[in-house]
Formats: sequence, C-alpha cells, structure tokens
Amino acid sequence: MMRRPLIAGNWKMHKTPLETEAFLQSLLRLLPDPTGVDTLLLPPYTSLDRAGRLLRGQQVLLGAQDVHPAPSGAFTGAVSAAMLAACGCTHVLVGHSERRHVFGDSDLLVRRKLRTVLDHGLIAVLCIGETLDDRRNDQTGAILERQLDTALDDVSGGQAASLLIAYEPVWAIGTGETASPDQAQSAAVWIRGWLSSRYTSSFAQSTRILYGGSVKPDNVGALQSQPDLDGMLVGGASLDPVPFLEIIQASIAAVDREALC
Ligand code: PGA
Repeated sequence: MMRRPLIAGNWKMHKTPLETEAFLQSLLRLLPDPTGVDTLLLPPYTSLDRAGRLLRGQQVLLGAQDVHPAPSGAFTGAVSAAMLAACGCTHVLVGHSERRHVFGDSDLLVRRKLRTVLDHGLIAVLCIGETLDDRRNDQTGAILERQLDTALDDVSGGQAASLLIAYEPVWAIGTGETASPDQAQSAAVWIRGWLSSRYTSSFAQSTRILYGGSVKPDNVGALQSQPDLDGMLVGGASLDPVPFLEIIQASIAAVDREALC
C-alpha cells in the first residue's frame, strides 16, 4: 500500500510572525511543485494566523504544536481547537515529548487533547516514545503500548482515520543522537502491529508513521528508505528553509528510489 510521505517542521518556541513570513516566502519559492511529499509546518501559536493567510491555496499544510481539550472557558494562556482551525490549521500535535516531560501532560490529558482534535475534524499527530532509561531497561514496547492504549482508548476506527503517529524516542530529540534506521523501523513495525490488533490490519497498513529525533539532511535518506517509516517530524533542522528543503528533497529521492525497485 502506498502511503504518501509527510515531512513536518516543528518550530517549538521559535520565530516571530515576521520571521515566519520570511521563512515561508523562501520555502514557497524553493519548493518543487508538486513534491510528491506532503509538507507540514507547526509554528508557534502567535504565527499561525499569519502563516494561515500566506499558505492559503499553497501545497504546504499548517498545524499547531498543542491544544487545550476544552472548547472555550476560563483557561488562561490556552488555545482551543476551534481557534486553531480558524487560523487555517489542519493538523495538531498531541503528546509531544516536551509537553509530556517539560509541561507534565499525562497520558490521560493527551487522550483528551486527541479527542478534541478529532472532534473538530482536524488531523492529530500523536507523538509517542520512550526515554533512554526505558530503552536501557527493555521497556520500549511497554511504554509505547501504555501511551497508545491510553490515547486511543475511546477512538473508533473511523475517527482514527484522521490520525498520524510520530515515533519520537525522547533520547533522540534535540540531542543530535538519532535512532538508527533499524531502531526506528522496528518501532514503526511494533506500532503497526499494535494498530492492527486494536483496529484492522488494513487500517494499520494505511496509517502513516513518522520518525522524529535529530533528523538532518544527511540522515533522512536512510531513515526514509525504511519500509514502515512514512515521513519525519523535524525540530531544529526545520528552522532554516535550506536544510528543511534538503530534508524534503532527500525524502523525495528516497521515495523515488523505492518506486523504481
Ligand atoms: P529535533 O526535534 O529534530 O530537534 O530533535 C524533533 C521534535 O521535537 O519533534
């Protein structure tokens, strides 16, 4: 089954609206058209409205890095799914490791956020991954299982059609240490197995699974060539349009090679 690759740029807490505009103008000028690969940008909240206007009618998709589970109310500092949709977002990250480990988002909160994203007709990018201690203690499968079990507990197969999963080992995020292509592929196979037993095997085969954690232009080719990896969630290397474009191009080349085989 052909799953269209997706390269997502997670800017975290970087770039003002003006810097966002400059980045988008360069990216749109340089991006080959059509790319054969989906491109998704996840700027901070304050840049979303401007990015949404600039990206209207363009091939680059827009998403947010987080969301509050409530529709509205007295939640100082929070942003709702309807607000994100109104800025032009089609995608929302939920459960990013910095949300889980820096801000203390629990598995249950991640579930509520995921629900809200799906209930608003948006696409959720559910991030899961183990810490270094988990991996050393042979707990990777147990952690992924707990995160998936909780997040998708009340999500039906129909609703889960609007879901992407990002495998992001915590030890590889922002550290310069990338999971090997084999480690990332094994985790993706494990996740597909879980999806197959929770839903159906055809659902598992059609769900896109991304890898994230120190993805760079020089390691993306080997990662993207893995049969169960369908794209990348890129942090640091997405902040400059040149390396980000190189990642997109390397990903297109890896997909083209696969198509020839
Ligand atoms: P990184 O971040 O590429 O800087 O490691 C990835 C992420 O946090 O999604």
